[in-house]
Amino acid sequence: MCLNRAGLSARGSVVLQMDNIRTSVEKMEKEKTLDLRKKHIGPSCKIFFSHDPIKIVQARGQYMYDEKGQRYLDCINNVAHVGHCHPDVVKAGAQQMELLNTNSRFLHDNLVLFAQRLQATLPDRLSVCYLVNSGSEANDLALRLARQYTGHRDVITLENAYHGHVSSLIDISPYKFHQLSDAERNPFVHVAPSPDVYRGKYRADHPDPATAYADEVKALIDGVQAEGRKIAAFIAESLQSCGGQVVPPVGYFQQVAEHVREAGGVFIADEVQVGFGRVGTNFWAFQLQGEDFVPDIVTMGKPIGNGHPLSCVVTTKEVAEGFVSSGMDYFNTFGGNPVSCAIGLAVLDVIAKEDLQGKALCVGRHLSALLEQLKEEHPLVGDVRGCGLFVGVELVRDRLMLTPATAEAQHVIYKLKEERILLSADGPHRNVLKFKPPMCFTKEDADLVVEKIHLILTELEEGLGLKMSNKAKMENDSIKRKRPSSSLHSRGSSQDVQHAKHIKA
Ligand SMILES: Cc1ncc(COP(=O)(O)O)c(C=O)c1O
Repeated sequence: MCLNRAGLSARGSVVLQMDNIRTSVEKMEKEKTLDLRKKHIGPSCKIFFSHDPIKIVQARGQYMYDEKGQRYLDCINNVAHVGHCHPDVVKAGAQQMELLNTNSRFLHDNLVLFAQRLQATLPDRLSVCYLVNSGSEANDLALRLARQYTGHRDVITLENAYHGHVSSLIDISPYKFHQLSDAERNPFVHVAPSPDVYRGKYRADHPDPATAYADEVKALIDGVQAEGRKIAAFIAESLQSCGGQVVPPVGYFQQVAEHVREAGGVFIADEVQVGFGRVGTNFWAFQLQGEDFVPDIVTMGKPIGNGHPLSCVVTTKEVAEGFVSSGMDYFNTFGGNPVSCAIGLAVLDVIAKEDLQGKALCVGRHLSALLEQLKEEHPLVGDVRGCGLFVGVELVRDRLMLTPATAEAQHVIYKLKEERILLSADGPHRNVLKFKPPMCFTKEDADLVVEKIHLILTELEEGLGLKMSNKAKMENDSIKRKRPSSSLHSRGSSQDVQHAKHIKA
C-alpha cells in the first residue's frame, strides 16, 4: 500500500503501523461513524464515554488502538481473555473457515475434542456439554435444563445479579429489572441478598456470614414451598461482577447447594465473566469455594472464544437425560460449529502454553497489593477485593457510613480515559472500579494504572478536603482484623507491598 507522509493511504483512510502490521483500518471519519450509529443503531445500545466516544480500530494483547493510532491500556476486557487478536486464535479460526463451517448435525472432530478438553478442566460429574453462542443463550438453556429436570419453575437469584439480555434472563437479573414495577416482574423469581461482606446484610464482622447468607436462601425456599410450589434452580455468578465484584464467603455455595438440592432444585454457577483461569488459583471461580463444591450446571461465555461468539453449558448426565426425556430435540444452528470449536480449542491451548492462569495469580497479587496500598493512603478507597485478575475497588465518601462515591468513581474513569487507560465502574451504586483485563496484563501495566489512580485520587481528595483521619485508619485496621480468615479478599505478599511503596515514592 502506498502511504503519504501523514500516514494516509491513497483512499484517505488512516493506516496504523503496529507490530509490523500495516492495515487500512478506518472506512470513514469518526464523526461520520457517529452520525451513522445515531441514525441506524438502536438508541438503547449505549456507548462508552458517550460525550466523547472512542473509535477503536485495532487491538493486540492488552492494548487497543484508536483511529489515530493512539494506544489504550485495556483493564476491563475479559472477553479478549488471551489477548486481543491472539495470532494462534486468529489462525485457528481462519484455517478452519477455509475448510468447513457447518452445524453440529454432522460428525466433526472439533466439537467432540473441544467438549472433551473443557470437561478435563471440570470435576468428573460435569461431563455433558451443549455448545451455544452467547452467555445469554447459555443461561437461558441452563434454566430450561433445570426446569425440565426438576419439573419445577421457581428460581432464586441474587440481588444485583446480571445473567443476560433475553427475556428469561431479564426476569432473573435484578441489575436490570430493578427498574420494573412489581407487576412487570416474574412472580416465580425470588431474590436473595448478595453475599457481600463489605456492604451487604451480613458483613465481615459477622461470626458466620456464609451461613447467614445461605439461611436467607433457605428462607426463600421455605416461602415458595409454603405457597405450594418448588424451586427449580438457584443461579449465581461464582463471583458477582456487574453486581460489584463481590466475593462470596467460603462455604456459602456448599450450604446453598444443600438447601436447594434438598428442595429438589439444582445449582447453576454462571462463569460467563469469571471462568478460564482468571481467578489465578483455580481454573473455575466456583472452585474457590473448595473442592467439596460442585454445581449441577455451569455456564460459560465471554472468554471462551476470545471475542468469537461462543459459549457453553456443562451439566451432569442426569440433568442431560432429564432434558432429553421431554422428547424435544435441541438444535442450534451455530452452536458447536467447527470454526467456533477450533477457536475454543486454540484459546485453551494458549491459556496452557502461556501459563495465563499462573500469570493471573502472580500479576493479580501484585495489582491487589498496590491497590491495598492505595487504600492505606486514600480515604476514598473503602475496600479492595478480588482474586487473580478479577479485582474490585469500592470508593466511598465515608468509611463508616459506606456512602458510595459514585461521582468520584466516574471521575476516576474519565480521567483515566484521558491517560488512555480503559477502566469501568459498576455495582449497584456504580462506585466499584472493576479490573478484569486480558490475561496478558503485566505487572508494569498494574504499576501504571495504580499510579495514575493514585494521582487522580490525590487531586480529588485535595479538592474535597478529604484526609485520612486517624479514626479512619483505625477503622481500616479493625475491618482488616474482623475479616474471616477464610475470606477470599486478595492480600498481597509483603514483597508486593514493598514494591507498591517503592513506586509511590
Ligand atoms: C454474568 C453474566 N452472565 C451472562 C451474560 C450474558 O452474556 P452475553 O452478553 O454474551 O449474552 C453476561 C454479560 O455481560 C454476564 O455478565
